[in-house]
Amino acid sequence: MKRPQANPWIAQIPPYAPGLSKEQIARQHGIAAPIKMASNENPLGPSRLALKAIDTFKDHVHLYPDAAARELRQAAAGYFHCEPENIIAGNGSDEIIDMVCRAYLAPGDKVVIPECTFSYYRIAALACGATVIRTPMDGTRIDASAIESAMTGEEHTKLIFLANPNNPTGTYLNREAIDRLIARIPASSILIIDEAYAAFARAADFASTSNLIATCPNIIVINTLSKSHGLAGLRVGFGLADRTIIDILGRVKPPFNLNLLAIKAGTAALSDTAFVQETLDLTWNGLDYLERECSRLGLACVPSQTNFILVHVGPAARRVYEELLQRGIITRYLDEPGLAEFLRISIGLPHENEALIANLENILPILR
Ligand SMILES: Cc1ncc(COP(=O)(O)O)c(C=O)c1O
Repeated sequence: MKRPQANPWIAQIPPYAPGLSKEQIARQHGIAAPIKMASNENPLGPSRLALKAIDTFKDHVHLYPDAAARELRQAAAGYFHCEPENIIAGNGSDEIIDMVCRAYLAPGDKVVIPECTFSYYRIAALACGATVIRTPMDGTRIDASAIESAMTGEEHTKLIFLANPNNPTGTYLNREAIDRLIARIPASSILIIDEAYAAFARAADFASTSNLIATCPNIIVINTLSKSHGLAGLRVGFGLADRTIIDILGRVKPPFNLNLLAIKAGTAALSDTAFVQETLDLTWNGLDYLERECSRLGLACVPSQTNFILVHVGPAARRVYEELLQRGIITRYLDEPGLAEFLRISIGLPHENEALIANLENILPILR
């Protein structure tokens, strides 16, 4: 029987694998209150100012939102120290990644993506029929020289994706490495620097690149309110770039891509500095606690500049993940080259971090 055929390159796209939800685990394992440490969400919940804005504007949802999300972009301009004309808002930063690919990629174009990074870059590029060139990692760190060789090599590369800090490893490239990459971007290529986790970075030599968009015509900096501002379920992300790029992205943007409550709540959240500070304190204390306790249990952690930590559990990592699941603790096992012995664990509330460690302490001796 004849069936409609999708574009032939669509079949190559690996399905995106989200973290398991609390509801799934509660149902499957009969656990009343599972602990989710799998999707790098904010354990404090949403920004309180965002909640207030949702309450104030919930009666307005019969109206279309502002297609240009002007007030949100104005607030974001203050937050990222640039002009509203340098910002496009997305339904999560996933949508910014998608818009960049749709605007710039044609079938056969080359896209550089490190081997071990956020999986949606590859999905979005493959959806446009692009050819993905994966650059090798330097252990759990992104190898900047491998990116440089790929983007300056003989084959023209249209887009280069770099998560800084990186998901799922939590590692980062320092200012010097980023500056060197930016200086070498070919004139007809774009380097996308995804700073979804930049708010959490504590390393003295980490530097955000959002201040470089005024002077670099071929970078796009991505950010999101999903993590530091606790709005993952509402979907608010940003692309920051030179006005010419923002104009191009605006042409492929769905008309009302951000819903009215996302615009109002996102605008309010951007002024909630107390909430962000509370989030950072909680995250950094949690990271320090987990590093210390993992080390006591003989597990090495990859130093993290994010709100999650990659823990080297060893060959039994998948079984440890499954044992944790049965006990109601959802972590992330990433079945990818180089990561088979690791679990990625999002920082939780103090009692959640403690429950994780107590359960690891019980599970590890059984599996060793
Ligand atoms: C590096 C990175 N970029 C972008 C995203 C997408 O975030 P959102 O679409 O929620 O803004 C994520 C989500 O986990 C991420 O890890």
